[in-house]
Amino acid sequence: MTEILAVDGGPPLRSRPWLDNFTTGDAERQAVLAVLDSGYLSLFEGSHTPDPPFAFTGGPAVHRLEDLAAERLGVPHVVSVNSATSGLYAAIGALGLGYGDEVIVSPYTMSACAAAPLVYGAIPVFADVEDGGSLSVAAVAARLTPRTRAILVVHQFGIPADMDGLLALAADHQLKVIEDCAQAWGARHRGRPVGTLGDIGVFSFNVNKTIQSGEGGLCVTRDADLAYRLQLIRNHGEAVVGPAGYDAITNIIGYNYRMTELTAAVACEQMRRLEDLNRQRLELVAQLSEGLARYDCFVPPAGRPDCDSTYYVYPLRYLAGHLGQRPRAELVKALNAEGILFYQGYVRPLYLQPLYQRRQAFRHGYPWSAPENRDSQPDYSPGSCPTAERLHNHEMIINEHIRPPQSSGDVTDILGAVDKVLGAWGQARSAPPRDWSGPRSDEIG
Ligand SMILES: Cc1ncc(COP(=O)(O)O)c(C=O)c1O
Repeated sequence: MTEILAVDGGPPLRSRPWLDNFTTGDAERQAVLAVLDSGYLSLFEGSHTPDPPFAFTGGPAVHRLEDLAAERLGVPHVVSVNSATSGLYAAIGALGLGYGDEVIVSPYTMSACAAAPLVYGAIPVFADVEDGGSLSVAAVAARLTPRTRAILVVHQFGIPADMDGLLALAADHQLKVIEDCAQAWGARHRGRPVGTLGDIGVFSFNVNKTIQSGEGGLCVTRDADLAYRLQLIRNHGEAVVGPAGYDAITNIIGYNYRMTELTAAVACEQMRRLEDLNRQRLELVAQLSEGLARYDCFVPPAGRPDCDSTYYVYPLRYLAGHLGQRPRAELVKALNAEGILFYQGYVRPLYLQPLYQRRQAFRHGYPWSAPENRDSQPDYSPGSCPTAERLHNHEMIINEHIRPPQSSGDVTDILGAVDKVLGAWGQARSAPPRDWSGPRSDEIG
């Protein structure tokens, strides 16, 4: 006998609450207490810059975090900041981008990626994404103009973007590459940590991320001058360039993006937990993908061949339109009623925000109205990135409970609810289970 769905008045499959992103434990507690006991909640220290009262290289915890990240990621320079948003802004600034420049960005990501060029007067140009959610190389190529200076690529959902194609394009057109790795801690592209392939990589420690210290971020780079510029932008750089004798002062007007000792102490301990947290996360993803692959209407995330994805959230595609299924909204409503939290889509493609529709970041329509940007009037019209719109409006459903401290019993609940709802709607499972994982790295020539 078919069970009555919760959406039709039956009992929900799950009433237990889901657990938030609790990743901290005794190590973080001890680290915070040590900072509190020291009395130094933030420390400037200036040993690497010439004017100690104004320079900030951070205290011992900040140095420890930056050294640890440098070692783990295999990069010479790490500059901590107080968020990935700050890190993206600092990256655009450090690369010297501004009025008259265009930066190619993804429309299907967090808003700061497109705001970062704008705050320096550069124009974001949105290129469409692949079905997996990251920038499409062909779409980027189609949006290049003589004013394009950089690509800001996001390893969306923790799945490495097509860096081979994007880096080749960047090399051909002398473009800078910023990698946004906020959602991709521990992900690798052909064995190399994401964030270390372009000019600057940016990571986030915000409360929802795989590892977190409430807020916080890192910029990583192989270039010593870029690292110095990032450091200056992090801390009122205009005040120190004189004594430092640093001549390339454009964009060095600075902010306060400093990370506190308390935050750094927590972030350090979180870095040590990364492999374990990712291992647990990947086990949950594997279980969920295997279960969902039994249904033709679902396309579980496939990752990218020869790359290691780490899945910040679970981006599932539901092919309602192709298969005569019920609409996505109905599926999500029914699953939510069962106590299983799926969201419809990720974020509305960014160019549909009023900011882009009205081309007004600052007064008088700046920076679009600036004389230097006269020739930069990219297409922000609805339909201009059709894949992003299809994913957001029709196909993608997102679940975030593939992260610890959730466990396999929780994923069993998710799958149970899917079976219950689709079973009640007469949707048969297909067999045998589909191979969701893509080829292993050792199977690729
Ligand atoms: C892809 C992406 N970039 C940037 C950010 C900004 O991170 P933060 O909250 O550390 O500023 C986020 C956070 O949601 C993100 O998901």
